Amino acid sequence: MQKNKSIVLGITGGIAAYKAAELVRLLVKNNIDVQVVMTEAACQFITPITMQALSGKPVYTGMWDASIPNGMPHIELSRLADAIVIAPASADFIAKLVHGRADDLLSTLCLARDCALLVAPAMNKQMWENPATQRNIAQLKTDSIAILGPDSGEQACGEIGLGRMLEAEDLLTLIKAHFQPKLLQGKKVLITAGATLEMIDPVRAITNLSSGKMGIAIAQAAYEMGAEVTLIHGKVDAPLPKSTRNISAPSADAMYETVMCNVADQDVFIGVAAVADYTPAQKSGHKIKKSEQALSIQLNRTKDILADVASLPNAPFCVGFAAETDHLLTYAEQKRIAKKLPLIVANTATEAMGSDENEVTLLDKNGAHPLERAQKFAIAQEILRHVALSSSD
Ligand code: CTP
Repeated sequence: MQKNKSIVLGITGGIAAYKAAELVRLLVKNNIDVQVVMTEAACQFITPITMQALSGKPVYTGMWDASIPNGMPHIELSRLADAIVIAPASADFIAKLVHGRADDLLSTLCLARDCALLVAPAMNKQMWENPATQRNIAQLKTDSIAILGPDSGEQACGEIGLGRMLEAEDLLTLIKAHFQPKLLQGKKVLITAGATLEMIDPVRAITNLSSGKMGIAIAQAAYEMGAEVTLIHGKVDAPLPKSTRNISAPSADAMYETVMCNVADQDVFIGVAAVADYTPAQKSGHKIKKSEQALSIQLNRTKDILADVASLPNAPFCVGFAAETDHLLTYAEQKRIAKKLPLIVANTATEAMGSDENEVTLLDKNGAHPLERAQKFAIAQEILRHVALSSSD
């Protein structure tokens, strides 16, 4: 089994220190070991006891800690860490990093580190915009230090602008992405997700039970593996990733047009959306009134996005999904051949829809590769590992 990642979370003095508590909780929940180190100023905003309770470990606040066997906490802590994350990083601490100052435990262990350093700035918008801070940030980037954020929005001082620290959830995503092997670095990946909505009249539509969760998981996982991701989505029941380019395309026709406008120069196309095969021939401009007679709606076939992308000259590496209720592998393989796909993901329609878990089999020219039942995000990572290996053949 893979060893859990370990990080040192450095907290500096700023009101956003309260968000670090939630970050510690999320990191621990995601099996990342967290060793918290706080500056003296950070302890004015949140107590070490809170951080100790959440991380399950004593918190270090000073250089002169006798409990460290070799008496050198700055060396010891940085040796154990896979990365150091500073969140929040005050303007003052950022300036210190630029100059390689080492006048407290956190700055000393940053200087003594042999691992990646990720910095999440948090400050008032004027401080952020100040040329001195901007010069410092540029220098940190030159020194290969990752800058996470900042975000824009309402600030503790009442102003609105750039400078507030990213939310804990967003920081978690970026920290996890940092640890992912960049199997799709430099690749462009286009994904469709969710259910399409075929309007009958202004208030009624034909749709399906797809939640979009599988497509969203693939988009997020592809981003974490280094890809530039475009997610074209219909109706979804889960939050869209923040780090991908997301385009709404509610109907099968709109999704077809949007994909065709964005497919040029993509390396991989993954059709996860449950696209309607039929759409009403006429869409009434007004609400249809009931009458005593039966009502028939004529449905026309929609265009097959995946099949058309797969037959483009210079087509990207195309992956399809086949959701079946019976004869799963036979029908899925027939779809793979008919649509000329190098890879199709077969799953049982009724089980996968709406659930957070999935059980799938990958089918390619070498046969069937069943994956263990798992959370959709873990399945997404497995599918993408397979794509990364197969598309580089
Ligand atoms: N797909 C698409 N455009 C369509 C229909 C489907 O891109 N108009 C894609 C889906 O995103 C999925 C795969 O094709 O990757 C599903 O194949 P399909 O044969 O259309 O599945 P079903 O509609 O379930 O087919 P059937 O009713 O024949 O089982």
